[in-house]
Amino acid sequence: MSGPGNAQSLEFEDVCLEYAGRHGVTPAVSGLTASVDAGRFVSLIGPSGCGKSTLLDIAGGLLPPTSGVCRLGGTDVTGPQSTTSMVFQEAALLPWRSVLDNVAFPLEVKGVRASERRARAAELLRTVGLDGFANAYPSELSGGMRQRVSIARALVTDPALLLMDEPFGALDQQTRSMMGLELTRTWERVQCSVLFVTHDIGEAVALSDEVWVLSRRPARLLTRIEVDLPRPRADDLPLQPRFQELEAEIWGTLREESRAMGVPERVGV
Ligand SMILES: Nc1ncnc2c1ncn2[C@@H]1O[C@H](COP(=O)(O)OP(=O)(O)OP(=O)(O)O)[C@@H](O)[C@H]1O
Ligand SMILES: [Mg+2]
Repeated sequence: MSGPGNAQSLEFEDVCLEYAGRHGVTPAVSGLTASVDAGRFVSLIGPSGCGKSTLLDIAGGLLPPTSGVCRLGGTDVTGPQSTTSMVFQEAALLPWRSVLDNVAFPLEVKGVRASERRARAAELLRTVGLDGFANAYPSELSGGMRQRVSIARALVTDPALLLMDEPFGALDQQTRSMMGLELTRTWERVQCSVLFVTHDIGEAVALSDEVWVLSRRPARLLTRIEVDLPRPRADDLPLQPRFQELEAEIWGTLREESRAMGVPERVGV
């Protein structure tokens, strides 16, 4: 259940989620059973609107499943956990606080003393390559740098689980690839469990130990693909035949799902 560092396993057992709205019930997740072993990096891929963010919200304790159970480290998740951190597409930083004080913020909430939280935040800023920007303000940073700050802030508490919802979705392709590589290097040091949502199949393969391919809404697990590429991941990974095979396998699963649903091929994921 526990893994390297503080890492903990995350389990979904027959999880269903239905949104009840004015226009009736919308099933978003259907009977999903899968687990992230402690310290593993798992990506979620699936058609737009299939239920990926919903699944992350369940894991983060923000949404209770309609039926089934989600467990972190063997304990039922019944609300937000202090050992879980989340990173979203837009870095929600506090604009009036310096970069260092943004990163240190979760430790301040926990009552950690000032000298200790500043030292820990400075260490995380070094890890994400922003040590020269501790005293800058969020408005003085690029989008990629702001997202690095939010990753540092998410890791400053040594979380058991890191949930990331398209964290690089707002970045240009070049920055995105670089940030992905940086994230794997940071994570290889921190070793928490990660559930990472992306629309980019190459990104999922490059970063993960395992990729879960989801069906159209309501999300079911179509397949789990083990990414048997050695770590640390090489810079030229996209050129390697095994990488391309794994990408093709994921595309194939999604294409079959589109065909089965009678929708045109290569629908956006
Ligand atoms: N609060 C809500 N009330 C009703 N329906 C909702 C609510 N939130 C999401 N949904 C519906 O549930 C489905 C899954 O939404 P979700 O945001 O989990 O999808 P997603 O896979 O993250 O999509 P995307 O890839 O576009 O981010 C969607 O069809 C959406 O319309
Ligand atoms: Mg989403």
